[in-house]
Amino acid sequence: MNRLFSGIKVGPFELAHRVVLAPLTRMRTEEGNVPGDLMVDYYTQRASSGGLLISDATAVSPLGIAYVDAPGIYTEEQMRGWKRVIDAVHSKGARIFLQMWHAGRQAHPGNTGGHWPVAPSALRSFEHAAIRDEKGDIVEAQLVVPRALDTEEIRAIVEQFRHGAELAKQAGFDGVELHGANGYLFEQFLLDGTNKRNDEYGGTVTNRARFLFDTLDAVVSVWGPGRVALRLSPSGTYGTMSDSDPHATFGYVAQRLNDYALAYLHVIEPRIRGIVEQATRETDVTSKDMSRIYRGTVIAAGGFTGESAEQIIADGHADLVAFGRMFISNPDLPHRLRKGLPLTPYDRSTFYGGDRRGYTDYAPNPLTTA
Ligand SMILES: Cc1cc2nc3c(=O)[nH]c(=O)nc-3n(C[C@H](O)[C@H](O)[C@H](O)COP(=O)(O)O)c2cc1C
Repeated sequence: MNRLFSGIKVGPFELAHRVVLAPLTRMRTEEGNVPGDLMVDYYTQRASSGGLLISDATAVSPLGIAYVDAPGIYTEEQMRGWKRVIDAVHSKGARIFLQMWHAGRQAHPGNTGGHWPVAPSALRSFEHAAIRDEKGDIVEAQLVVPRALDTEEIRAIVEQFRHGAELAKQAGFDGVELHGANGYLFEQFLLDGTNKRNDEYGGTVTNRARFLFDTLDAVVSVWGPGRVALRLSPSGTYGTMSDSDPHATFGYVAQRLNDYALAYLHVIEPRIRGIVEQATRETDVTSKDMSRIYRGTVIAAGGFTGESAEQIIADGHADLVAFGRMFISNPDLPHRLRKGLPLTPYDRSTFYGGDRRGYTDYAPNPLTTA
């Protein structure tokens, strides 16, 4: 393997390799959706091989939270919690971007302080949220029919992203990635299956993309060039998502992104639906399709092995590759891939919520530190 372990420049940053930690919701914050010691340990372990880490999806407001104990970036306490994570990551020589998130209709009143979830249109998702019941146990809960946002409220959410971007900068992140994937608010606006609006945020693809690009403009105004990124899942169906013409929709977005000096565009391959494998379809939009239109740096994600990661870089369809599930159970994944060492299998039952089990107790391979 050569290409995966060759250096690359992302924005202003020189990275020693191209193995990226994918954004992973692990639901392990402390009171107030604040990152604490457990998260400091988790990220420190995964920073030990250098490279680029992307944070858990992090909400810009209480209404942005789909899963109990997910982190936020709307209070000073959250900002300070993240600062401790970032300082630890930097001390290991790695870089970290914050994934900024608004769940839209994927949020649940049980996690939002009773506020009713919002979306472009009052259409329901048939996925589940994770909430805490009266006994304190984490349980799955059916989503509700969201309330359609009025035009002024959409502008207010753009401002929440701007505020989150300012706090992220204050905390010391190296950059921010907008979570435009997996059926959350940006995607709910972008796809015509979930956006039935007839104001300037609905209808044509230009209108459906307006919320995304308005937010991108706001966040770039805080961070400047090379420090803002976007994640998309052009063929994802997670969140009961659909679009009548994904190639046209995502082609439009990819083309317009050429006007932005982004750090990178992060594309999830069609073979993954949220966190599970799905059958691929003729109409799928891949990172290969996106990289033909988008001229900047591309990170591909979704079901990669060391070999397929090497291949997609060799083929020129991506510049870096993000790993999710395998980075959960292999905190030193880049070392293991580089040396061809065996990988520890992951345990799904400890993905979401809980303590250090399945979080910070996956041991590094003893051979990698020798
Ligand atoms: C436990 C878990 C949590 C995830 N949370 C997020 C998230 O917060 N944001 C996001 O964009 N993707 C999230 N994903 C998707 C991953 O980033 C990645 O796209 C997916 O796991 C496929 O990559 P893999 O095959 O390498 O695991 C999550 C996946 C898992 C397994």
